Amino acid sequence: MCGIIGYTGYEQAEKKITTGLEILEYRGYDSVGACLLKNGKHEITKVKGRINDLKARLSLGENEQAFTGIGHTRWATHGSPSDENAHPHKVGRVTLVHNGIIENYESIKAGLIKEGITFFSDTDSEVACALINKYYNESTHPCVAILKALREIRGSYAFAIMFEGYEGEIFALRYSSPLLVAKDKNGSYLASDITAFLPFTKEYATIHEGEIAHLTKDEIKIYSHDGTFEPQWQTTNLDYASAKKGGYEHFMLKEIYEQPDVVNECVLKRVKDFLPDFSYDKIDSEIFEGIKNIHIVACGSAMHAGMLGARLIEELSGVSASAFIASEYRYSPPLFHSPTLVIAISQSGETMDTLSALRYAKGSGCKILAIVNTHSSSIAREADKAIYTEAGPEIAVATTKGYISQLAILYLIACYLGLIRGRVNSIQCQEYIKDILDASNDMKKALERTSELRAFAEKIKDSEHLYYIGRGIDYSLCMEASLKLKEISYIHSEAYPAGELKHGTISLIENNTPVFAICTDERLYDKTKSNIKEVKARGANTFILCFSGAREPQKSAEHVFVLNGRSKISRLLNGVLTCQIIAYETARLRGCEIDRPRNLAKSVTVE
Ligand code: G6P
Repeated sequence: MCGIIGYTGYEQAEKKITTGLEILEYRGYDSVGACLLKNGKHEITKVKGRINDLKARLSLGENEQAFTGIGHTRWATHGSPSDENAHPHKVGRVTLVHNGIIENYESIKAGLIKEGITFFSDTDSEVACALINKYYNESTHPCVAILKALREIRGSYAFAIMFEGYEGEIFALRYSSPLLVAKDKNGSYLASDITAFLPFTKEYATIHEGEIAHLTKDEIKIYSHDGTFEPQWQTTNLDYASAKKGGYEHFMLKEIYEQPDVVNECVLKRVKDFLPDFSYDKIDSEIFEGIKNIHIVACGSAMHAGMLGARLIEELSGVSASAFIASEYRYSPPLFHSPTLVIAISQSGETMDTLSALRYAKGSGCKILAIVNTHSSSIAREADKAIYTEAGPEIAVATTKGYISQLAILYLIACYLGLIRGRVNSIQCQEYIKDILDASNDMKKALERTSELRAFAEKIKDSEHLYYIGRGIDYSLCMEASLKLKEISYIHSEAYPAGELKHGTISLIENNTPVFAICTDERLYDKTKSNIKEVKARGANTFILCFSGAREPQKSAEHVFVLNGRSKISRLLNGVLTCQIIAYETARLRGCEIDRPRNLAKSVTVE
């Protein structure tokens, strides 16, 4: 995690850096800092706090100018959030910002301490800085110092480095952590994420592992074993407006409201004659041919999308599919019944656990299909094929449109597999596709019913604990509903398979404990209803989110919300939307910082 930014050019660097850091704040917000080149000196300002605290301290004096600088917003791994542990770090004549983890920093640090180096922070990053400085002297080029240090470093990193003696220049490199460069007529930029460039330019390039980018005011050069060359410039179709709030109180709310269109666009790009078609993604049936089973690897909400997707795939295509928590995948190695297709899902495309699982599966000979939102991200690049959800920049830390776009793609894959394996015929398949297009309209209508859900939020806002229960595919939905609520409202919430509650967890139900049951599947209604009654009999305050047409839901739970949508996929997507709004409204009533929940970061690039 952590966000890094750098600029050198003809305009004031301070503004570029603070603007970029504001956009990158979703990557971590424990502390923030910048180094500006002023009168040939590296001037560092850093603070445990937010961008506004940094801005207040950074302000340039009347006659001051700084045209080169680097900045950092931190999600703490080594060393608590504090001014000292904030980046940039400066040792000797080297100043750097770092995203990643130097795994062997303790042994390197011990060696450097013996050589007389004093450290002022608890971070692994300061150690990397000291090591590069050790190899940097009057007769050494920065690249040589970097390469010498790299021989000793183990771990993941994206570094932006300024060297005294190389005024107006920035050196940058990466391994496993993301880093991009960009340019316009005013100068050269680097950042962890393309969105940080959007206020300035659309022309960007990826730095690949093994390369060092050298930024000067007029150009960017890439050095690698193969020589020196120009970056491979690309133009993004994202725009700055899509990365702003657009009148909504929070990014999360804006992103919730974008979902009907996101689903619609995701599908329309991938259907011909109402049949699934992945030619937009340059994917034909080959990657799916002959597969015996599917493993889905992902983290957090993306894993929940995978759980739901696995059920859809099995049901519509008959191919065995399971979702795995990516961080566990390598440690309890699954059996690969060859040929296995591994689907890696990630909004950011940079989640280290997902990337590691992908690499493990690739090393085991599996074909890899990625479902990602971010173009040119590591997961997209390392997969054999990638489907881009193209949901636009997602800024709120708690994912909404990213998650729903993953569900839409998984549903299309399920339909496609069902069709090519003859499990469903084209007429049935066309119906399924129409269902998801209708779902998008149903979601729009559901967004007009937020006041009903605000009333639910009023009822649960003071609770300490809450349970979501459901069976089958609804249990997967409960997992996401529960995560959404706890991550932004800080109410402890658990998702439970409805039938399993009575085997232990029911002992936690007390007078007024909120229990939400989700039931989108008619076949499971009666059974889930019995489970609601069990908790109601023990004092729970019960809620049911159920399909329209359910028999007498008001007799099963005290509070009833009938989900929009008649088809199965529409009920599921509307179920997701409903739970997101419940979480949002609850967090709002509790006065939580919705877009930036404590301790979290959006993109988790450490294991
Ligand atoms: C973090 C975020 C979650 C997200 C997960 C996976 O933990 O807070 O919202 O689901 O990472 O992220 P990815 O970018 O791989 O989808």
